[in-house]
Amino acid sequence: MHYLDINKASWNERVEPHLTSDFYDVEGFKKGKTSLNQIELDLLGDVRGKSILHLQCHFGQDSMSLSRMGAQVVGVDFSDKAIRAAKQIRDELGLDTEFVLNDVLSLDASKLDGLFDIVFTSYGTIGWLPDIQKWAEVVARFMKPGGQFIIAEFHPVVWMFDDDIQYVRYSYFNKEEIEEIEEGSYTDQSEHLRTKFITWNHGLSEVFNALKAKGLHISDFNEFDYSPYKCFKEMVETSPGKYMLKGNENKFPMVYSMKWHKL
Ligand SMILES: C[S@@+](CC[C@H](N)C(=O)[O-])C[C@H]1O[C@@H](n2cnc3c(N)ncnc32)[C@H](O)[C@@H]1O
Repeated sequence: MHYLDINKASWNERVEPHLTSDFYDVEGFKKGKTSLNQIELDLLGDVRGKSILHLQCHFGQDSMSLSRMGAQVVGVDFSDKAIRAAKQIRDELGLDTEFVLNDVLSLDASKLDGLFDIVFTSYGTIGWLPDIQKWAEVVARFMKPGGQFIIAEFHPVVWMFDDDIQYVRYSYFNKEEIEEIEEGSYTDQSEHLRTKFITWNHGLSEVFNALKAKGLHISDFNEFDYSPYKCFKEMVETSPGKYMLKGNENKFPMVYSMKWHKL
């Protein structure tokens, strides 16, 4: 079976339990709570009037948070269940966010209306993609001249470890296709899930060089010793909304963020 079919089926299975999880807090979101974190908000700045392409939007809470901030947003995801849920929530809230069902690597111009001020992606996205050169081509293609690309992503060091973050299991570098059977999900309400995924590790130089090769210029790069999500086993909240690995607090890079520009 092709990796896209395997991953799509597994992401589809996750949508329902995610929608009812405390992790995604859909009820809080519907009442007006933003799903965005300070890490990406700091790079996004004032998005009023900006057009934003949000890659791998899941069921769209971040896309709709950006709409609420005054941006014109298009969210893209390959999970039909996620896109259906996103459209339902959008309609219930009366927002104008657009959602497009598509594999990110084969996203073509005919699906979208024009170029964007900002291309955005965050937390748990590039690991699902085998080809970062192709991804960088998509990112650059949909940016306006003068446009920005903003990414907040889990640090590649985190993906070197086993599930319990006890020992190094995988290469930091993109050496192999990683096939895993996952029990549950990173949210609650998912104990019954047993899903198969195919992922790839992408080190920082791979990401840097792919975006640089597309002619983009970087202005911001940050690494964080915390995650804004309690999404791995054995994490402790060291201060409000900041989660670190228990026993290794302050030692691991958990997340990175970058801002790139198309001149
Ligand atoms: C961890 S989630 C996105 C993170 C987002 N910040 C969130 O938590 O709501 C990863 C998303 O990537 C999507 N995805 C995975 N592979 C994809 C692909 N090849 N094309 C488009 N979407 C993909 C999944 O369906 C899922 O919704």
